[in-house]
Amino acid sequence: MLDAGCGPGVMTRALLTSSPASFRITVLDQSIAMTKYCVASTGDLGQVGPATGELEALPFLDSSFDVVLVLGSLEYANAGLAVREISRVVRPGGIVIVTMLNPMSPYRITEWFVYWPSLRILAMIERLLGRPLDRRHGARRTGIRGIPAGWLKRMLARVDLAPVDLVHFDVTPHLPPFDRLPALARRAERIPHDRTVTRGWRRWMGTGYLVVARRGRSGEVPRAQVTVPSPRREPSAVPSPRGARSVPCDAGP
Ligand SMILES: C[S@@+](CC[C@H](N)C(=O)[O-])C[C@H]1O[C@@H](n2cnc3c(N)ncnc32)[C@H](O)[C@@H]1O
Repeated sequence: MLDAGCGPGVMTRALLTSSPASFRITVLDQSIAMTKYCVASTGDLGQVGPATGELEALPFLDSSFDVVLVLGSLEYANAGLAVREISRVVRPGGIVIVTMLNPMSPYRITEWFVYWPSLRILAMIERLLGRPLDRRHGARRTGIRGIPAGWLKRMLARVDLAPVDLVHFDVTPHLPPFDRLPALARRAERIPHDRTVTRGWRRWMGTGYLVVARRGRSGEVPRAQVTVPSPRREPSAVPSPRGARSVPCDAGP
């Protein structure tokens, strides 16, 4: 298995803990610090090997893996190039599991286009008023890009990865900044996880989603240029608590 954009290895650790003998995992990240940390923190649980590299140019031979996980990292990459590479390195009939922030959810729309821009305007006003730097509001920019689910499914299909399942997660009616209110945050923590995941009508409220795709058996990844849609660009940065659940580290570029 390849954990592509492994970060600190949350999923690798979870898999090896739940079923130590079932996996041989290569952890790849553009950050050598992340892969080192990942191996150091999971190596005692099972077979874990590090690789440093970019999702857009994976340093592996064709059809090297049975399964490729891309959890919380495609948002940071050139998605068109990355999915093509992912398709190349998974074997025909193999499985790819991708998560993506849902740019169409009320939560993301509010966060990216209302909440964070408001914080930036506030920061500008505070600067004009001479408020000390460490007491100013603001939101850094990360370059995260969210891709709508239908769009991502079509991108995957174009590189011979046939989507077989789509699940939305982190379903919430609460919008920022109200989800940060302690009472609401505490209540959200108590909601069982299976109630925050859906394939049903509530999916539009999911702040992220997961696609499972299977590589075609032809073994042919189309060599033609992949059209890279211009996904909705998330204009801000500091991963929110809710972002942090679907994107469990803030190690983005
Ligand atoms: C938010 S973390 C997700 C980590 C992990 N997959 C998880 O779910 O806990 C994103 C990771 O993707 C890595 N990353 C971002 N862009 C990348 C790229 N183009 N190629 C390889 N890794 C990348 C970052 O270094 C970071 O460690």
